[in-house]
Amino acid sequence: MAKNLFIAFEGIDGSGKSTQINLLKKNFENAGHNVYTTFEPTDKPIGKLIRDIFNHKSNADQRTIAALFAADRLEHILNKENGIIKMLKEGFTVITDRFYLSSYAYHGVHVPVDWVIQCNMLSAELIRPDLNIFIDIDPELGMKRLKKGRNSLEMFETLENQKKVRDKYFEIMEKLKFQEKIFVTDGNRPVELIAEDIWKVVENILDRI
Ligand code: ADP
Ligand code: TYD
Repeated sequence: MAKNLFIAFEGIDGSGKSTQINLLKKNFENAGHNVYTTFEPTDKPIGKLIRDIFNHKSNADQRTIAALFAADRLEHILNKENGIIKMLKEGFTVITDRFYLSSYAYHGVHVPVDWVIQCNMLSAELIRPDLNIFIDIDPELGMKRLKKGRNSLEMFETLENQKKVRDKYFEIMEKLKFQEKIFVTDGNRPVELIAEDIWKVVENILDRI
């Protein structure tokens, strides 16, 4: 019986992750797979706390925020009802909108990246994505896309920060190139072209398992 995949989407805010996740889900389903899509920060208690901080309802130090994400991720993986491990065991292909590479990139801008990697060590040991898909987009275009759909912006959503996060993503992708399987795709292109490239890479993995 073929192994069902665990795929993480990565990228700066507005890079097109949700759009591509929906299209990839359809492609998987057309190929006969059951798909479970999920996201971080989660909708569980720690994820809700994080969203309150992002929406300026509550305050916390950058180190606290990084640690909250590490805790939220453990619950995302281990939750008995619908955690990633549980859903994979039930036979679902699991696609998540963000996973630990997001932590390395977003928090690595504010605190030492090696500490962030350490904080997430248990998660990486529990489950590594079969594929991380990084949608690379010009931060100026990302900001334009974000502003279109929103009246207010969250904590990390400034152009200056998005540029730093993009640079940090490239730094950590280089650092982790022997540990993580990462596909980088040019997200500045039309939706359909990006989706085709992603599906080609995924089909290739499916052919080999
Ligand atoms: P994310 O989940 O990474 O924040 P979304 O998928 O929600 O990104 O996309 C942000 C906005 O940009 C949405 O309005 C979406 O329709 C639009 N969008 C996504 N991908 C593209 C693309 N390749 N070209 C143009 N607009 C896009
Ligand atoms: P998300 O809801 O995915 O925003 P978007 O759809 O705009 O990409 O993520 C919310 C914010 O959380 C986003 O700015 C990235 C940030 N984030 C971290 O700072 N650390 C993390 O570990 C994760 C998963 C997300």
